Amino acid sequence: MSLPEILQTPLTVPVVASPMFIASGPALVSAQCQAGVIGSFPALNARPASQLSDWLDEITESNAAYAAANPDAIVAPFAVNQIVHRSNARLDEDLATIVEHRVPIVITSLGARPDVNEAVHSYGGIVLHDIINDEFARKAVERGADGLIAVAAGAGGHAGTLSPFALVQEIREWFDGPLLLSGAIAHGRSILAALAAGADFAYVGSAFLATDEANVVDGYKDMVVDSRADDIIYSSTFTGVHGNYLRKSIEVHGLDPANLPKPTSGPNPLSGGLGEVKAWRDVWGSGQGIGSVASRGTVAETVDRLAAEYHAAREGLLERVGALVRTS
Ligand SMILES: Cc1cc2nc3c(=O)[nH]c(=O)nc-3n(C[C@H](O)[C@H](O)[C@H](O)COP(=O)(O)O)c2cc1C
Repeated sequence: MSLPEILQTPLTVPVVASPMFIASGPALVSAQCQAGVIGSFPALNARPASQLSDWLDEITESNAAYAAANPDAIVAPFAVNQIVHRSNARLDEDLATIVEHRVPIVITSLGARPDVNEAVHSYGGIVLHDIINDEFARKAVERGADGLIAVAAGAGGHAGTLSPFALVQEIREWFDGPLLLSGAIAHGRSILAALAAGADFAYVGSAFLATDEANVVDGYKDMVVDSRADDIIYSSTFTGVHGNYLRKSIEVHGLDPANLPKPTSGPNPLSGGLGEVKAWRDVWGSGQGIGSVASRGTVAETVDRLAAEYHAAREGLLERVGALVRTS
């Protein structure tokens, strides 16, 4: 199956920047699109709900102005994320705004609903649904999703536990539509690896947390730069859903990451917490790939780095494969 037209737009590097609660707003998304990767944000980041329409206008206008001033630049489309979970009381209102603005790509997570997919299809938009295993992948496609985002082990935010090799391979046995792979992809070499494994795009979140345009506090950005895979804690304590968080952001509240209590309520993916300590605001999400984030900088610098690493890895791989494998 060929990719839907909107996903055939040329990019600087085959990356969809994933939506991140709190962190992704118009500044981050516009910068991602203008650096040539598909940008995205959770609709719930626009507060109150009436602000969603303004954000959509702002991103659309910023991208159009940038494209007009830079005719040779790659300006990628953007996506909006809908949390399709019963705890999201804004779903219908936000969906109506998305339809009104004809948002080209909608990313759904934590629930697949046919009526949401039909609403997006009504104006020609596409839906990418994120899943953590093959069973959920099949359900999502049965319910009308156009493409899948495989959230493998090590992803930031709510994450799965499966190996990316196993997950992509199982899905590719029956699905030839658009497939994105996520989980600890923060280096150009890993983007190439995602494609080699069978995905069409890498889905990258945490690598953008330390950028100037990310809407998080400086301490969070610095902690991303200073942390590595071993500093990531996988826990369901804070939201009732397993996710990956920065160890030091847990310890700073006097909590022992090795002895976290079981969740007392939930699942409450968005506003969960432990007493006064709130998930996302106080305990900071991140994937395992941040060892590749060596410094803070702009989105454009991050995308340039990923693209340079991707091309170097591609060339290096062709040389190594040629040297290692006898083809005749
Ligand atoms: C701080 C943070 C917040 C996130 N919030 C959301 C969200 O609101 N909706 C969503 O679908 N995914 C969310 N994610 C998950 C990402 O969409 C994606 O699966 C993940 O970032 C990919 O892994 P990586 O961070 O290792 O690149 C979040 C991830 C992070 C790090």
